[in-house]
Amino acid sequence: MTTTTPSLAARSRTSTILLKLLMAGTGLVFIGYVLLHMYGNLKVFGGQESFDSYAEHLREFGEPILPYSGLLWIIRVVLLGSLVVHVYSAVTLWRRAHGARTQKYTVAKRVHSTWSSKTMRWGGLALLLFVVFHILHFTTRTITPGGDSDSPYQRLVNSFSPDQWWVPVVYLLAMGALAMHLRHGTWSAAQTLGLTGSPAARQRANVAGYTLAVVIAGGFAIVPLSVLVGIVE
Ligand code: HEM
Repeated sequence: MTTTTPSLAARSRTSTILLKLLMAGTGLVFIGYVLLHMYGNLKVFGGQESFDSYAEHLREFGEPILPYSGLLWIIRVVLLGSLVVHVYSAVTLWRRAHGARTQKYTVAKRVHSTWSSKTMRWGGLALLLFVVFHILHFTTRTITPGGDSDSPYQRLVNSFSPDQWWVPVVYLLAMGALAMHLRHGTWSAAQTLGLTGSPAARQRANVAGYTLAVVIAGGFAIVPLSVLVGIVE
């Protein structure tokens, strides 16, 4: 009996497809999360009571089956796992595309760094730094611009007030990076999933990318902007 083993090049191709699928899949997890997070943030327009009770309900959700904050911990674990897979796949694919591999079995191919691939790389890194800053700010409360408070609503208002104008500026810049990442990421995911095969499909993928970028980044940005100009206080 003879067995056929796939060539090293074929295996490398397969794992490239797998990495792209992992990027698309984890990207979709992030899109789901930011959509819900953005929607939740809009509760600031319902006032302090509405926003703070929403933050509290998030922690009580699923009790007594889940422990207090149980859902939040499940979300944290899923997000962290997705982040590790997303970044690992991105770095591996990037290194492969740039011929930084040690294996000699594939032909090294020079790939031009397009504007999009550059913004994905640097924008992705900027988002990563933003998320670290954001967690130190709102979750661990290690950084407390404008003063700490037990009310999540008050922490948000303190942070984005004009006295600390740099905080809303950091958030707004990060939302710009998020918009670009979502726009191009949606396009890449559509390509990986075989959804860009015809002009009509490409147009759909483009519209989906722009819509997600505007709705999610715009929906997030409206919160620091509203505090900055005094609509929310
Ligand atoms: C203007 C934009 C944003 C605002 C005002 C905002 C606000 C907040 C607030 C108030 C919390 C704390 C919630 C709580 O303690 O109940 C939080 C948590 C968090 N946010 Fe955001 N957020 C923004 C954008 C983002 C973006 C773009 C991401 C992801 C890319 C993100 C990821 C997270 C994460 C991972 C947590 C921690 C959840 C946890 O483990 O408790 N946020 N955010």
